Amino acid sequence: MSEEDRYVFIAEWYDPNAALQRRYQLIYYTKDQSVEMYDVKNHRIFLRRTKYEELRKEDLFVGNKINVFSRLLHLIDYGDQYTARKVGSKKEKTLAMIKPDAVMKMGSIIESILDSGFLITKAKMVLLSRAEAMDFYREHHSKSFFNDLIHFMTSGPIVALEVVGDDAVASWRKLLGPTNAGIARSESPESIRARFGTDGTKNAAHGSDSIASAARLDLNGMFDTSSRTNKLELEFFFPSSGGPGPKNTAKLTDCTCCIIKPHAVSEGLTGKILNDILSTGFEISAMQMFTMEKANAEEFYEIYKGVVAEYNEMVAELCCGPCVALEIRDADAPKRFREYCGPSDPEIARHLRPRTLRARFGKNKIKNAVHCTDLPEDSVLEVQYFFKILDS
Ligand code: CMP
Repeated sequence: MSEEDRYVFIAEWYDPNAALQRRYQLIYYTKDQSVEMYDVKNHRIFLRRTKYEELRKEDLFVGNKINVFSRLLHLIDYGDQYTARKVGSKKEKTLAMIKPDAVMKMGSIIESILDSGFLITKAKMVLLSRAEAMDFYREHHSKSFFNDLIHFMTSGPIVALEVVGDDAVASWRKLLGPTNAGIARSESPESIRARFGTDGTKNAAHGSDSIASAARLDLNGMFDTSSRTNKLELEFFFPSSGGPGPKNTAKLTDCTCCIIKPHAVSEGLTGKILNDILSTGFEISAMQMFTMEKANAEEFYEIYKGVVAEYNEMVAELCCGPCVALEIRDADAPKRFREYCGPSDPEIARHLRPRTLRARFGKNKIKNAVHCTDLPEDSVLEVQYFFKILDS
């Protein structure tokens, strides 16, 4: 086998039974999409080379969390120079922010981001306070448009996204197009600002303003490749200290809970599903990406334990990668949204209710695209579980 076929990473897994952080060398063979794991401390094979098609090459980069046979592994380093050079040298992360004028179009914007080969690794809908907006845009405080900008940026919710990809800082700015949406329409008609923006201030989305390529310092550290602005902007929304950052927008009344399941997120369906929900007339009043621990997934699905035969598989699916939690608001939210999701088995849904979400985006009873609250009395509790408990 040639050298190209093999990528090596150092991965950590928190073993809840032993309350220990375990460390592995993980080897991924592209040729047959197989993985092998070696226990670093105990010097032994942990997982013999096994085919695992669910793992995609795009998901393999330092900083990402991947699921390997129901273990959530954190890739903390490259395991050899070849992998660092091949995977790490071009990978960057940047902030993509959907502004108030384009939040209703977030489905299409996210679709466009994913279609362009980026991976979304964090997402949160927030409503900036005036102080937060002034802080975020402090470099513009002396500009003539500052007041208009702050007024606009606090006029409604925004969606902050962390996107990862090759040369992400520059690539995302290219996809965004020129700052002024009018100019974008003549110079770059396919760009996000041309398609979804209005003018120079209401320009649909934001990208960190930094030139990364000149600052590639360290093959192992994709986080060192971006400039200070980029890091500060991501930190503003997603503090690495675990601090709070801007608050989520959940209202926790007249709502129901929807979760775009990990399989649908990893298949790149997030944008399409959001688009569908919004165009059907539901309000998405909060949105956030979570990567659940198994214990949390078990707790969340507690009411199905002993009732639904697939409980264990449902838990495994919910914690096998990032999911996107939504607070859906509507006059008759739990009932109407549940009908719109359709029967929990997509096969049945395709026969009986072919226009429902699960009929169109689900694969089987476990990978059925979305979870929605079943009993109206649980809807607020489920929304609270994500936006009050897990978000804290
Ligand atoms: P953004 O990329 O978020 O960074 C700064 C923002 O200020 C910019 O998008 C616009 O929304 C706004 N902005 C920049 N230049 C002007 C301008 N000349 N007139 C009005 N608003 C502007």
